[in-house]
Amino acid sequence: MQGKVAAVFGIANHRSIAWGIAKALHDSGCRLALSYQNERMGQKLDKLASELGDPWRRECDVTDEGAVESFFGELREELGGLDYLVHSVAFAKREELAGEYLNTSWDGFALAQEVSAYSLVRLTRHAAPLMEGRNGSIIALSYLGSVRVVPGYNVMGVAKASLESSMRYLATDLGPRGVRVNAVSAGPIRTLSASGVAGFTDMLQYAAERAPLRRNVTIDEVGKAVRFLLSDDASGITGQVLYVDCGYESMGM
Ligand SMILES: NC(=O)c1ccc[n+]([C@@H]2O[C@H](COP(=O)([O-])OP(=O)(O)OC[C@H]3O[C@@H](n4cnc5c(N)ncnc54)[C@H](O)[C@@H]3O)[C@@H](O)[C@H]2O)c1
Repeated sequence: MQGKVAAVFGIANHRSIAWGIAKALHDSGCRLALSYQNERMGQKLDKLASELGDPWRRECDVTDEGAVESFFGELREELGGLDYLVHSVAFAKREELAGEYLNTSWDGFALAQEVSAYSLVRLTRHAAPLMEGRNGSIIALSYLGSVRVVPGYNVMGVAKASLESSMRYLATDLGPRGVRVNAVSAGPIRTLSASGVAGFTDMLQYAAERAPLRRNVTIDEVGKAVRFLLSDDASGITGQVLYVDCGYESMGM
């Protein structure tokens, strides 16, 4: 993957899944283009960036069409094109991540969908032209709450279902152009976003007790799986969800 250009969205701190992914891609020689949500996140990223060889980075709120357009426009001008895109972004209001799904507000539903699912469509639309002729590959981060009921995950589970479905439609649109689109469904990991889910500590423990590997997955393990799916080693795989969760998804209890 030496010299391949990889755009990574979603590093908030050293616990972020996107941080594990960026490290794995950096270790394999990728040239990173990092995006951060706002100025505050940018300052945090500045402190971490030296560990990744001080890569190219720009602010980009994924709900802002103009910001996304500028991000990829500048990336094209300064880095020449794009090989890989990683979408590791999600958000829902804390009050929607507890209690009954029945009480989900329209605003909360729409916000979770826009930040966590529609953003994949928006990023992909702007990224795809930069991937022409380069066997491009795109990954989105999902969670089991998309296909099973996980208490507290609520509106985010529905957003992940939308994200996974969008991934399949995008894979179909972009397959003829040689671009692959897949998702990695990670097991629970203690991150900034995860702290917003009511009962998250119980989720971690529950999964670790029941998963065949009897533990929780790490951001480094997710990073390596994402790197595999992005790479030419996965050239025959598109439109798929790969579970990286110590085997938990396969269990019937
Ligand atoms: N932590 C888990 O247990 C877990 C499990 C499976 C999947 N995931 C998914 O992994 C991805 C990364 O989450 P994480 O757990 O590493 O948490 P995180 O909080 O470290 O990362 C979430 C990122 O989303 C970014 N973001 C939110 N709103 C944004 C916006 N409007 N514009 C741009 N960026 C925005 C945040 O700045 C942050 O960097 C998410 O899609 C999450 O749903 C997490």
